[in-house]
Amino acid sequence: MLDAARIRALAQEHGTPLYLLDIDQVLERAARLAAFDTLRYAQKAHPGLALLRALASRGYAVDATSGFEIERALAAGFSPDRIELATDVLDRRTLEVAATHGVRANLGSADLIEPYAASSAPRSCTLRLNPGFGSGHNKRVTTGGPHSKHGIWHEELPEALARAERAGLEVTGLHLHIGSGVALEGLAQTIEAMDAALAHAPATLERVSAGGGLAVPYDGGPEFPVDEYASAWLAARERWQERLGRALHLEVEPGRYLVAPAGLLVAEVRACKQTPDWNWVLVDAGFQTLARPLLYGAYHRMELLDATDRPLRPTVVAGPLCESGDVLTQSAEGEPRPVQLAQARPGDLLLIHDAGAYGISMASNYNGFPLPPEVVVQGGEPRLARRRQTFDDLLALEQDLS
Ligand SMILES: Cc1ncc(COP(=O)(O)O)c(C=O)c1O
Repeated sequence: MLDAARIRALAQEHGTPLYLLDIDQVLERAARLAAFDTLRYAQKAHPGLALLRALASRGYAVDATSGFEIERALAAGFSPDRIELATDVLDRRTLEVAATHGVRANLGSADLIEPYAASSAPRSCTLRLNPGFGSGHNKRVTTGGPHSKHGIWHEELPEALARAERAGLEVTGLHLHIGSGVALEGLAQTIEAMDAALAHAPATLERVSAGGGLAVPYDGGPEFPVDEYASAWLAARERWQERLGRALHLEVEPGRYLVAPAGLLVAEVRACKQTPDWNWVLVDAGFQTLARPLLYGAYHRMELLDATDRPLRPTVVAGPLCESGDVLTQSAEGEPRPVQLAQARPGDLLLIHDAGAYGISMASNYNGFPLPPEVVVQGGEPRLARRRQTFDDLLALEQDLS
């Protein structure tokens, strides 16, 4: 990432809050997953065009969750055969976009089989399984188990395969994604679930996808052991190939793992105050900028720029919104959760680390704030990839009915 002087200069030039994304770092992280035949980037984590272009031009594949994400991937230079639509609901427009561009779907509900087969979309599809269990850094990102809406319940896979056959659809892929921020502990169980699913493998099966969800150490701890993870999947693939007597292509579909550590959110301290329990620092970024703390009680490392000589204090950091939940340091239960921060003064710059995933992609216009700009770093050079939304942009969708 950039040094302090450059971050300060960029904040001055583009204002705050400001997102930075180090695409060089994303590419370096993507290369760590080279053991898989295909790395399919889950663009929901960060759908920036500059990033997608960089991934497309290096031959990676991409996951889209809607017709709009298919169109974004096409705009970034992915060919339709490098895009897969993963969804539990096929809205009419999404189906039309997939059909028009010939994008294969990963169907997460059996009821999507017939409408998909009846469209002019490719005659092959992937089926997403709910293996009966899930995992994740928060229950809201756990995407398997009886409480999850995602995937086809594992016991219903044979029936879904029969439906696909009746509809004239070839099932060429099986996919699992049990949640986001998944540790290695549950890996054996996940592989076993795919193993059980493969007992029903149709003759048309070509691919198995391990899904995404690889964890990121937001607390600065050790990195996710990608090599161990890849080895376990590769060894399983060997067994499955032997058992089925044919080659199987192995995919992985991370979002967060690639982009989270490569992103930085820069905010400015605008006010400091005390309540009997807490030392508050109020900044110009809130949950309209970074929703993860409010949604999941997610922890992000934070530091003040150029303040290493000041004493550290337990500090609760909050944003500018007229919402008491607009706290960037809170627990999953919504209680303030102080972080150690150098004594702040209005005008200081606050760096919020690991903000590259589900940061700008979840930003909103709540309280009238425009979406923030983003600078990307490529070949070591920072460039503005996305300008700040303007007031005119915000009004553009509305009619003057006066
Ligand atoms: C089907 C699927 N694939 C991949 C991902 C990416 O997850 P992560 O960003 O945690 O890797 C998700 C996230 O929700 C998902 O639902």
